[in-house]
Amino acid sequence: MEKSYLCNYKTMQAMKNRQKRAIIIGATSGIGLEMVKVLTAQGWQVGIAGRRQERLQQIQSKNLDVVATECIDITKEDAPKHLLTLIGKTGGMNLYFHSAGVGYQNPALDMEKEMTTVATNVTGFTQMVDTAFHYFMAHPDREAHLAVISSIAGTRGLGAAPAYSSTKRYINHYMECLTQLCHIRGIHHIHLHDIRPGFVRTAFIADGHHYPLQLDPHRVALSIAKGIQADRSIITIDWRYRLLVFFWRLVPRWLWVRLKVASK
Ligand SMILES: NC(=O)c1ccc[n+]([C@@H]2O[C@H](COP(=O)([O-])OP(=O)(O)OC[C@H]3O[C@@H](n4cnc5c(N)ncnc54)[C@H](OP(=O)(O)O)[C@@H]3O)[C@@H](O)[C@H]2O)c1
Repeated sequence: MEKSYLCNYKTMQAMKNRQKRAIIIGATSGIGLEMVKVLTAQGWQVGIAGRRQERLQQIQSKNLDVVATECIDITKEDAPKHLLTLIGKTGGMNLYFHSAGVGYQNPALDMEKEMTTVATNVTGFTQMVDTAFHYFMAHPDREAHLAVISSIAGTRGLGAAPAYSSTKRYINHYMECLTQLCHIRGIHHIHLHDIRPGFVRTAFIADGHHYPLQLDPHRVALSIAKGIQADRSIITIDWRYRLLVFFWRLVPRWLWVRLKVASK
């Protein structure tokens, strides 16, 4: 009896979500791709983007609830225009999910790696998030969620990956600014989420370095969906990383800069 109530509840939730539409940028692999699976399983209609056209088509051919695709390079000037096209093709947007990002261990301070990271995680990020924010502002009649993946790497400066750590700090800060801006302007329908994972087992960290405490990407996506549903503004995944961040924030700067900490 209890089981059938639960099934009915789940079916009702899925039906309710079916009218909801999510846009996922950086959906061709890793956490973004897992979010596609989690959201469509929960009944969302999803529009996806990334630079790899063939991957987008492959994903859509396997999943009927992926209703639209768009090839977008977020570092390009025309990326906002393509985002609006994707929103149109998807039939609207209730959730903007930004997973696109790059990062390198770069102790040699290779300029090309640093500048690519800035172009993607700062310039690309800002133009996409601002476009999504403006879209939600133009549609005050619906509840909206704007969720972005930063990293725990933004919570302290990490010398092994200067641009990565700094650009993730930028994202942490930007989301705080937008949250305050919503209060200043009396905007109540836009819910903002800054998602901060620790190491996640994706192509992103398959660079030959050793990364401890790796998280399963599907479980990470489930935690993210749960956090968004619970309307949490900062979502640090998982509890071990919450503990780690708590303790490393207590380390004074003079000591912190002398520590050998790896990052991603
Ligand atoms: N894995 C980790 O340990 C970890 C930890 C903390 C935070 N994160 C963050 O999580 C996010 C997702 O990473 P992931 O682990 O899922 O890695 P991933 O598998 O490498 O996914 C990165 C995604 O970003 C897209 N992307 C990169 N540059 C882009 C651009 N210029 N325009 C559009 N899309 C672009 C890629 O798609 P295309 O190549 O098709 O464009 C891909 O879909 C990143 O922001 C990363 O910083 C990851």
